[in-house]
Amino acid sequence: MAVKLIDKHAVDFIDKTLYSEVAADAAKAYKTVYDRSGAGSDFLGWLDLPEKYDRDEYVRVKAAAEKIKQSCDVFIVIGIGGSYLGARAAVEFVKSPLYNNLKKGTPDIYFAGKDINSAYMNELLMLCKDRDVCINVISKSGTTTEPSIAFRVFRELLEKKYGEKGACGRIFVTTDKSRGKLKALADEKGYETFTVPDDIGGRYSVLTSVGLLPIAVAGIDVDAMMRGAADAMACYGKGAEDNDCVKYATLRNCMYRGGRGIEILVTYDPALAMFNEWWKQLYGESEGKDNKGLYPSSVVFSSDLHSMGQYIQQGTRNIFETVMNIKADDSPVVIPDDPQNVDGMNFVSKKTLHYINENAFNATLLAHVDGQVPNVILELRDRSAYTFGWLVYFFELACAISGYTLGVNPFDQPGVESYKKNMYALLGKPGYEEERKALLERLG
Ligand code: PA5
Repeated sequence: MAVKLIDKHAVDFIDKTLYSEVAADAAKAYKTVYDRSGAGSDFLGWLDLPEKYDRDEYVRVKAAAEKIKQSCDVFIVIGIGGSYLGARAAVEFVKSPLYNNLKKGTPDIYFAGKDINSAYMNELLMLCKDRDVCINVISKSGTTTEPSIAFRVFRELLEKKYGEKGACGRIFVTTDKSRGKLKALADEKGYETFTVPDDIGGRYSVLTSVGLLPIAVAGIDVDAMMRGAADAMACYGKGAEDNDCVKYATLRNCMYRGGRGIEILVTYDPALAMFNEWWKQLYGESEGKDNKGLYPSSVVFSSDLHSMGQYIQQGTRNIFETVMNIKADDSPVVIPDDPQNVDGMNFVSKKTLHYINENAFNATLLAHVDGQVPNVILELRDRSAYTFGWLVYFFELACAISGYTLGVNPFDQPGVESYKKNMYALLGKPGYEEERKALLERLG
């Protein structure tokens, strides 16, 4: 097992009757997922994806990744939300948050279309100057404003640099198989395209071509990643009993019903900071609706022990932590001895940083539990591609079970439309004239 849940620092905070009630609901929710009988069940494609993925497309993705590795120094991945967070999380988790700064023999990877900031865009354009560039634009709908705008900018850059034909060989599109403006543009221009399956929503799509292409370009072993996900699928598919996904869904719904409305995902490794972001989208967008849902937040320790640590220890007691603890020390650093002991730190001489980090984890765990903050522990074997695949599958399945336990559809995101509608109206998109007038009046 690449991921193991430990609940002994959480269960004492939960009333036993409540636990039994919620555990029964979670077991029912597990059945609802596998029966495909719940709300949004058209979007359960990720459930058996690790076994049933399109092998031909997978081979094409790997071939495209090789071509990209050979032909560019900078690879720009354009997408927002579920169309970029998973890939970025994987690159940092398996490789490094310093990926672009390390000597690696694979292209630098930058993410665009995830915001609308001109300074960031100008800096990306500067980074592309005098370097060979390839692009992967990713949008399931093919109509999202942020990536559409970024793609215009980078398409122009590539066409100026390589001509229309040259640019064509450097632009890779991941979108719906037939719908959307992006698909139409790709067909017209002859770009190589990859498909986001109909039955998989953005935030559940990291193990499809959406994540696979950028992840493979980073030199990550995608076969191992898919094996990890497949083993997780087999492990958690055996039934609700003694199932860590069901346990996690039970624990977090107990916390919620017991008045703890905020879950903090904790890591002690900066390489998991973007994984935290992926997790926040998965849980926030899946559960935050119908005026319900835990608020997912995150911290990176020990850095944030010197900022958010105070709040967690002594602030409002409406929080609990889910802590990812990585067991392996794949890159040991030993603290040098100093015979003079001028800094008084000889008590850690010749110890590894990993050993000290483990002690920071244990010390914080007990302090926070003493401060009345329940701690759910997720023990991760290592930071391999295999463990990443397993962990993604664990959280996706647990999220579906947790959402049904909460009583929401974990696969839609109707609330995201409100800002989009207002933005279209304010930007003068045809068809939004009335809304525009009303909004401008309100803004004064
Ligand atoms: O999970 C989701 O569905 C969303 O976060 C989408 O991934 C995000 O809005 C981007 O959508 P699209 O891929 O259609 O551009």
